[in-house]
Amino acid sequence: MTVENALAMAKSLLRDRLSAAKTVVDATAGNGHDTLFLAANTPEDAVVWAFDRQQEALAATARRLAAGGLAGKCRLTLACHSAIAAYLAVPVDAAMFNLGYLPGGDHGFTTRAATTVAALGALTGLLAPGGLITVVAYPGHAAGSEENEAVAAFLAALPQADFTVAAWRMLNQKNMPPILYIIGKTGREAK
Ligand SMILES: C[S@@+](CC[C@H](N)C(=O)[O-])C[C@H]1O[C@@H](n2cnc3c(N)ncnc32)[C@H](O)[C@@H]1O
Repeated sequence: MTVENALAMAKSLLRDRLSAAKTVVDATAGNGHDTLFLAANTPEDAVVWAFDRQQEALAATARRLAAGGLAGKCRLTLACHSAIAAYLAVPVDAAMFNLGYLPGGDHGFTTRAATTVAALGALTGLLAPGGLITVVAYPGHAAGSEENEAVAAFLAALPQADFTVAAWRMLNQKNMPPILYIIGKTGREAK
């Protein structure tokens, strides 16, 4: 195993769980790299939900999925991820959050503490036993720092009997490197 950046680390940790997943979520579709990763690493009959507040982001995601021949299993949803429970009522096997703003896009559309924590509340409620959520947070900009603190406080308070929560970050990288949070729901995954 090699030491990778936070996002690559998140993907390495998720891969195994994805191989038998039925329902997975990309909470921040952006340019679609992570949605494509989820679609490519789940069974053919899995459903990948991808949320973003920007039409521009979903259009980029749709193009990427179409080029990869994986659009059919994805449900691209123009909505705040805090509203996820209005769209999904089934157990979620895995979910990814890649926080912040669309690279090259409007920085005003960055994820925010209150809605990110609300989305994490909804998704932890939907998470299947054995399910995993990864969150990559960017404390290097002002809104990101406040958001990271709110995310860490929310996750630290999750009940130990139901969730295992870990944090990972590079220790020798300059400029406030991203932090990866990993949330696992205790219990056995359904066969
Ligand atoms: C860092 S980008 C995600 C990168 C993306 N996963 C990829 O693979 O390219 C963060 C995205 O979160 C979206 N976003 C911001 N606030 C949101 C919210 N409340 N609900 C859903 N998406 C949101 C932004 O529009 C932006 O596209």
